[in-house]
Amino acid sequence: MSSLCNGSQLTSQKDSSRNENARRRWKLLARVLQKRDCDWIIKDVSVRRFSHFGLIVPCPLPELDLQYGESLWFAYSTVANGKFSVNIKHISKKISANDLMGFNNTGNICVWPSEEVLAYYCLSNLNMFSGKSVIELGGGMTSLAGVMIAKYTTALRVFLTDGNVLSVNNVQHIINHNNFGSSIVTCAVLEWGVRMSYENAQNKYDIVLCADCLFFDDVRKDLVDTIWAVLNENGVGLVMAPKRGDTLEKFLEEAKKKFHCTLDHYYNEQVWNRHLELKNNCEYDEDIHYPLLLQLRKIYTNGIGPEC
Ligand SMILES: C[S@@+](CC[C@H](N)C(=O)[O-])C[C@H]1O[C@@H](n2cnc3c(N)ncnc32)[C@H](O)[C@@H]1O
Repeated sequence: MSSLCNGSQLTSQKDSSRNENARRRWKLLARVLQKRDCDWIIKDVSVRRFSHFGLIVPCPLPELDLQYGESLWFAYSTVANGKFSVNIKHISKKISANDLMGFNNTGNICVWPSEEVLAYYCLSNLNMFSGKSVIELGGGMTSLAGVMIAKYTTALRVFLTDGNVLSVNNVQHIINHNNFGSSIVTCAVLEWGVRMSYENAQNKYDIVLCADCLFFDDVRKDLVDTIWAVLNENGVGLVMAPKRGDTLEKFLEEAKKKFHCTLDHYYNEQVWNRHLELKNNCEYDEDIHYPLLLQLRKIYTNGIGPEC
């Protein structure tokens, strides 16, 4: 048998090696994102042209990048008036393969539009946080909403958390490079459904924040239980997330077993107007981009809540 190839065989070999490379890249991305539950994110990243609502936008801060040698620091500012602005660090693209293979990394890719919108919603309702204790769950590499609250409200304390240690280390840099008012601001790893992690939270909180965390099938119930565990009796959970198929619906079903739930499409005039404008943009897909606001309040029957 001859080992020489003719032209069309060469082309088909090139095609198949290109396909193989593409397959490998997708496999790596899937592994980076920790396979399970991340189909939604893979779909989102693969068509990712819509990245934010243009309500809070990043502008590079080269003076803070000196020690990093790549652009990692940004001023995230409200567009309407620039009145609200915080220093935010992204995660370096040069993180090691070991880091990437670890805990779910969806929060280290970008600031997801739901986080931007949650931050914007909080800035539009500053008084809601006066004298309150606030915890953010699954805040990713920035916990943007919690950071804005820490800087611009008179919240008592703000606790920023995620299950991913890289994300939390990044948030610690962000805490170190912002001037917060009177709020006590801390961060730590908190993994949903892990009781030791709840104990990290030390106290219960008046307000729980959470953005775009409802599509993880395996830990959906854990997230509901965690919100229950860290929320005060009269507290409120502010959960911002797009529908992403039936994932929001499934979370709602689980949450209704323990909480009074209200789900709003229209919760902020500016966000709604942006949404209507974006509907004409072919890069905008309402199902994966427009976040709905779910508010959770504990149900108590005869003063006793459902078992955690
Ligand atoms: C899509 S990201 C959203 C991050 C951020 N809220 C945002 O919108 O930019 C989902 C976040 O959930 C976190 N997460 C996933 N499973 C978790 C778990 N079991 N415990 C704690 N955090 C978890 C991930 O680390 C990630 O930061």
